[in-house]
This record gives sequence, C-alpha cells and structure tokens, in this order.
Amino acid sequence: MAEKTYEIRITRQDPDTGEKTKSFYQIPVIPGMTVLEALWYIVDRIDGSLSFRYSCRGGVCGSCSMQINREVQLACQVQLSMLPQGTIIIEPLPRLSVIKDLVVDMKPFMNKYNSVQPFFANKKLPQQGEMVQSAEQRTDIEDSVKCIMCGACYVVCPLVYKDADFMGPAAMAAAQRFAFDSRNEQGKQRLVEVNGLGDFHGCLKVGKCSHVCPKGVDPARRIEEIREYVEALSKNN
Ligand code: FES
Repeated sequence: MAEKTYEIRITRQDPDTGEKTKSFYQIPVIPGMTVLEALWYIVDRIDGSLSFRYSCRGGVCGSCSMQINREVQLACQVQLSMLPQGTIIIEPLPRLSVIKDLVVDMKPFMNKYNSVQPFFANKKLPQQGEMVQSAEQRTDIEDSVKCIMCGACYVVCPLVYKDADFMGPAAMAAAQRFAFDSRNEQGKQRLVEVNGLGDFHGCLKVGKCSHVCPKGVDPARRIEEIREYVEALSKNN
C-alpha cells in the first residue's frame, strides 16, 4: 500500500538573483509532526538547499515565524495534522525583504523595537539580592513580558505599511512593558521622553496584531494602556 503523504509547497527565493520559485515536497504522515519538523525532514532527506530560521523548537525564541497556509504562525507550534487537507502552503513572512527562501530581513522590525529602549536604566541597583516586585505589580506587565519578538504582529499591522515611522505593535508592547514595570525607576518618564506621545494615536485599532500573536501579548490592549496613561497625564497637567 502506498505511503500516506502530505504535499508541501514552499515559496523560495534565490539570494543572488532574487528569482522566486515554488518547490513541492512529499512528506510522510508522522503523528505529531510539526511544520518545523517537516522542514527539517526536507533538508535532511530531500533538499539540503532549503533555508529557514529556528532555534528553540518550543515556541520561545520566535525565530520560526512564517506564513503557513497564508496565516502568520510559528512553524514549531503547528502540527501538519492541524491543517486542512490539501497542499500545505509555506511562505516567508510578508512585507519584509527575503534574504533566502523562508529567511527574511528582520532589521526594520528590530530597529523599531530597539528604538523604545527596551531595558532598565536604573541609576541605583539593590545592594544585594534581586529587584523584587509584588504579585500585584507584576500584573501590570504580565502579558507584555511574554513577547518573543517573532514579528508576527508587525507584519500584519496595516499602519506599519502606511506610516514608515510607526514603530509597530511589538515595540509599543515593549514600551508598555518597560514603562509599567515597577522595577524600572525611569519607566514612565522614558515613555514620555523617548517613546513619544504620538505613536499610539496612529493605531487604527484593527486588532490583527492581537489576533496573530502566538503568546497572548495582546499588543492592541497594551497600546490602549499607553493611551490611557498619557491621556490621564495630560489631564492632570
Ligand atoms: Fe523558537 Fe519556533 S523555533 S519559536
């Protein structure tokens, strides 16, 4: 009896010529196999020239973000058996330059993310021990700390493509996270000085960012929290 297989179609791009092609592969049905494992299968046994990114294999590093059947998802979190029957379509993240095959240039995303200065800038550190925070204080950043910088929210945000200066949902979620973290002594001040007061005004509230986020960061809600804070601040001044 013929072996049962999945057909996978991958959009590829030659790094030297920029030529785009589609490659088809037949993958045996193996229970529990993820899209990422299918890509390894291709590289190990069928075509070693295929390029893609991954690191943790467990939905933690954000490297394997790509389009699977036209939805931006983490390849390590999607099992082939979860997808509808028929050819499985794998493509690189949209709207970012392709370096090769499924590997895209994340620099525009990372530059904007870094522009919000996503780190603590405390002048004083505890003499000893850790910087503690209460469970209640932690709730302010509970969702935004989950961001794995996969770029999914960035590539689906319509405003990112309309306004080249808009920093995008992940950067705004990071701005919220470092502003509202009780351990960051300059957090809210930096939100005002560095992150500007304007970016959240531009948000179209489409909510695609929250829909595609694989970690439940809910960037649209985080942007609203910034808006609420800044509006309360201006009322008090
Ligand atoms: Fe790290 Fe998929 S390989 S999130």
